Amino acid sequence: MNWGHIDRYAKSLIKEAGHLIRVSFYKQIDVETKADANDLVTNIDREVERFFISRIKRDFPTHRILGEEGFGDDVQSLEGVIWMLDPIDGTMNFVHQKRNFAISLGIYADGVGMLGYIYDVMGDDFYYAVKGEGAYLNHERLPQLEITPLSDAIIGINASWVAPNRHIDNEKVIEMVKACRGTRSYGSAAIELAHVSTGRLDAYVSMRLSPWDIAGGIVIAQEVGAVATNLKGEAPGLLGQEPFIVARPGLHRELLTNYIQLKQ
Ligand code: IPD
Ligand code: CA
Ligand code: CA
Repeated sequence: MNWGHIDRYAKSLIKEAGHLIRVSFYKQIDVETKADANDLVTNIDREVERFFISRIKRDFPTHRILGEEGFGDDVQSLEGVIWMLDPIDGTMNFVHQKRNFAISLGIYADGVGMLGYIYDVMGDDFYYAVKGEGAYLNHERLPQLEITPLSDAIIGINASWVAPNRHIDNEKVIEMVKACRGTRSYGSAAIELAHVSTGRLDAYVSMRLSPWDIAGGIVIAQEVGAVATNLKGEAPGLLGQEPFIVARPGLHRELLTNYIQLKQ
């Protein structure tokens, strides 16, 4: 497999898709809801996913595509090459703020993340990595993450997980919020993974993420030494929704051991 070729191809496709999204602000944006009233999708999410799929199917006909909007393949196993795509991660931000959303893409071979991309479209910040070759923001190589104590850490977490919920013990999460330096929530899992990879956040945790939210970000985060797992400490399954944590080395174990505990 010529990963260098696929890498150059994917970067140029993502930049083209970013342009499509930016010009979409001059068009009509139709907003619909999906699973619930706050789960938004627009005609632009769908157009961008179709754009990716038509190109990938034309140029890499043996590869499969797992896309959020469902225009790709019905992926039930991780065999072969799979493009895991979220055409707009942070659709609520796209609709309400017109910023703070990203294109998220991970390209996996037999379950191993080979290439990862997060493109913050309005910030024009492009995060990318090739497995084993380091991670980059635009043209700058990102340094390896160092160990930070929880008392100096900023944790990316949505307030839903601090309130009582059916997934984790929120009393422990409240203890974590008190023990850390501060918390942030950006509304795009991909952008939060990018922030962990650059050290702007020290950890990010969420209870319900899908493969397309995290596939690209995991490749980038692992290249700088971050640890990305489900809440049992296992590698993310990437075939369905799962709780997810990514953090600096050391902090990952501390958060899982002392603060982020699944309800039985
Ligand atoms: C959502 C965002 C959000 C996360 C949700 C995701 P979408 O993706 O990443 O930050 O909390 O779980 O579903 O729907 O905007 O692509
Ligand atoms: Ca998403
Ligand atoms: Ca999306």
